[in-house]
Formats: sequence, C-alpha cells, structure tokens
Amino acid sequence: MKNLVVLTGAGISAESGISTFRDSGGLWEQYSIEDVATPEAWVKNPQLVTDFYNQRRKQLLEVEPNYGHIGLVELEKYFNVQIITQNVDNLHERAGSKNIIHLHGELIKVRSERFENIIYELKPENYEIKIGDKCEKGYQLRPHIVWFGEAVPMLEQAVKITEKADILVVIGTSLNVYPAASLVHYTRRDTPIYIIDPNSVAINNPNWYYIKKGASEGIKDLIEILKA
Ligand code: APR
Repeated sequence: MKNLVVLTGAGISAESGISTFRDSGGLWEQYSIEDVATPEAWVKNPQLVTDFYNQRRKQLLEVEPNYGHIGLVELEKYFNVQIITQNVDNLHERAGSKNIIHLHGELIKVRSERFENIIYELKPENYEIKIGDKCEKGYQLRPHIVWFGEAVPMLEQAVKITEKADILVVIGTSLNVYPAASLVHYTRRDTPIYIIDPNSVAINNPNWYYIKKGASEGIKDLIEILKA
C-alpha cells in the first residue's frame, strides 16, 4: 500500500466545535499567546495557564469527531495512513485512526514540570489539574503541551515519515507555525500535496492541489480523487 501522510491543524476540528487559533474569532483573539502558551507564562502565572488548559479539556469532552476525522479512518482501507497533527485534541484517536503523531502535545495528558518523561493520562471524570497536584517525585504537574519557544520532540520522527510519503494531505492549518509548517518541504519532489481548507493557503509548487472546502466536505472529494 502507498504511504499517505496527513498533516492536520485546528481546521479539521472546527466543525466539531473547537475554534481555530487564527481565524476571525479564533482562540488567539481571545487570549494572548504570551499569557497562556509559553514557559514564561507558566512561571509568571501558573494558575491562569492551568485554568486555560482545564477549560480546553472541558470543551474537548463536549465535542465529537466530524467526518473530516472519520474520512481519514476510511482511507486506511486503501493506504498506509500516518497522521501528523498539530492539534492537542484527541479527535483523531476517538474517530479510530491508528497511526497518530502529536507534534504539539496532548490535552488529555499532563507531565511533571521537572521530569518530562513522567506523563499521566487524565480520566474524563478528573480532567482538571490544580496547582499543588504533584508527580510521584513531588514536582508540580503541567500540561503536556509544546508551548511556544519549546522544542518539538516529535519533529524528527515526523520528518522521517514525511520523507517517505507517496501522497501528502494537508488539512486545516494556516501553515503559520514552524517547525510544523516546514514539514511540507520534506516530501520527495514528485509527491503530490493535497490541501483541504476553505480559505487560501499559500500554494508555491506545481504538485500542490487545492480542495477549497471545509474538512468534512473536502475529505469526501479527496477520497473520490484518490480512489479513481
Ligand atoms: N475545515 C478545514 N479547514 C478549516 C476549517 C474547516 N471547517 N475552518 C477553518 N479552517 C482553516 C483556516 O482557514 C486556517 O487555514 O484552518 C486553518 C486554521 O489555522 P490556525 O488557526 O492557524 O491553526 P493551526 O495551523 O493548526 O495552528 C498551528 O498554532 O497556536 C498554535 O499550537 C497551536 O497547533 C497550533 C499551531
């Protein structure tokens, strides 16, 4: 089977009811990145950061995967599908996708602020963390999120997978945030790249094909194109 690599961003979860970051009304219009999504914010005001991620987790419990996520599971019948997501939600997992890499961490996990490999998965009934919640070695728990200014540990693996792509699909990302956005440059020169997004995303290569639709409609078109 051919390798189908899919890079997803906030747009694939928009129709589930999770707002994107940079569209009008997006999350970064309501909050400042510096206040809630940097290591400095965690030092300056851990309560605010904790509240922000507790709210994100609460919202995640209230939403369901949409056909954008589900269509990617259907493609596993025809392709070796590998998803590389910038999203911290778990909607790809809940839709049933098998191979998922989270570049920017996972909302449902927390980790020790001192030992990055001590990671815990929160139960839905216990989704909140509080200042004072500690890991087994006695250090505060923090969100398992890659904040702005932090290294992206899964990048190397994502690059290796993208280099082997026979087809790359990009869904719902403005390609504004690096290093994730740089992945599109690691494909082989002849690898076709399909972009599903209702808004314009820079196209700078003859191998890029544009499906200018929302994720759930766009994935239907993609399945038709790829099955043909
Ligand atoms: N279907 C598909 N795409 C959509 C939809 C939809 N229904 N609605 C909006 N989009 C598109 C927008 O047009 C935009 O191109 O989704 C994209 C969302 O872009 P961003 O808000 O910038 O989100 P993303 O690219 O995932 O952000 C990257 O930035 O703040 C950080 O860490 C955060 O992982 C995130 C990273």
